[in-house]
Amino acid sequence: MNRPVLNRMSKAIVIDRCICYDRRFSELKDAADADHLQIDELTSRFGCGSCCGVCRPYIERMLETGETVFHEIILPRERSIKK
Ligand code: FES
Repeated sequence: MNRPVLNRMSKAIVIDRCICYDRRFSELKDAADADHLQIDELTSRFGCGSCCGVCRPYIERMLETGETVFHEIILPRERSIKK
């Protein structure tokens, strides 16, 4: 595997918004900080996470770390299935 090429490619990735609703994560973070919103409240207010859901793990990470621009693919967390 050619790691240097892979590393250069990952820096080219810029993910900074919910594509479906054209909302930047920085806008969502401002609202979350101002009104103490969690992800479900952000989804209700802005729609983000309710369409394709690809942005949801980024919003979760944003709420945890404060980051609003990402340079990696973040997959959804495994959800436990209760039987
Ligand atoms: S990218 Fe946010 S719902 Fe599709």
